[in-house]
Amino acid sequence: MKTWKNWIFSACLCAGIGTAAGLATSCTPQGQKADPQAADSATEENKNMVVETIMNRRSIRKYKDQPVEREKLETLIRCGINAPSGMNRQPWEVRVVDDAEYINGVTEIFKEANPKAAEEEGFKNMFRNAPAVIFIGSPKDGSGQFDCGLLGENIVLAAQSMGLGTCFLGGPVRFMLDQEEVRPYVERLQFSENYGLLYAIAVGYPDESPEAKPRDAGKARFID
Ligand SMILES: Cc1cc2nc3c(=O)[nH]c(=O)nc-3n(C[C@H](O)[C@H](O)[C@H](O)COP(=O)(O)O)c2cc1C
Repeated sequence: MKTWKNWIFSACLCAGIGTAAGLATSCTPQGQKADPQAADSATEENKNMVVETIMNRRSIRKYKDQPVEREKLETLIRCGINAPSGMNRQPWEVRVVDDAEYINGVTEIFKEANPKAAEEEGFKNMFRNAPAVIFIGSPKDGSGQFDCGLLGENIVLAAQSMGLGTCFLGGPVRFMLDQEEVRPYVERLQFSENYGLLYAIAVGYPDESPEAKPRDAGKARFID
């Protein structure tokens, strides 16, 4: 039996995290297969499309050789930039790359530095093998990172609702920022003078259905 507190907690969580799914009509679930682990914890909340989208999202690291339609990428960006931000400052810059020449070009440099990683089964590129990458820039003074995180979560949830897979990418971005040779590719992203590359999101049609990673429910509790 649910208590009113459970309901309020769930509603706030969804309102806070899942804004994306309600922003565009194209951000609605499209026959996503229910995950058994999500079903284990099935409650009435899981009948809610936003909750279902959140619970079924996984980081995807294998993608089909199928480009993502520009229209869908545009929807993702629209969902992203509709995230809340402190005083509506919108301290982000978003760059979408679906150009194989760019992705493979950086990957060649990555392969030289990490020959073992490139030998991994199914390796296609350093962006977890995705055909499209969304790069997010934030102000160099370190402000805006919280807001950029919210933008990213909107993007990955919207993608999930549209049958697309995603993976947040911290490692590949660190590589891009550390390697002098990659600088021309970073410059091609054309972030404003006072902005720098913060992280990226891989996007594509998923070619795997990973199990949910465990979560520690003990990290959150009510204070009565
Ligand atoms: C800030 C951040 C950076 C991440 N960087 C990477 C990365 O570089 N490579 C990768 O494969 N996954 C990366 N991930 C994905 C996490 O490994 C993943 O979210 C976590 O293991 C939980 O799995 P799930 O997303 O499937 O629920 C990153 C996630 C976040 C939030």
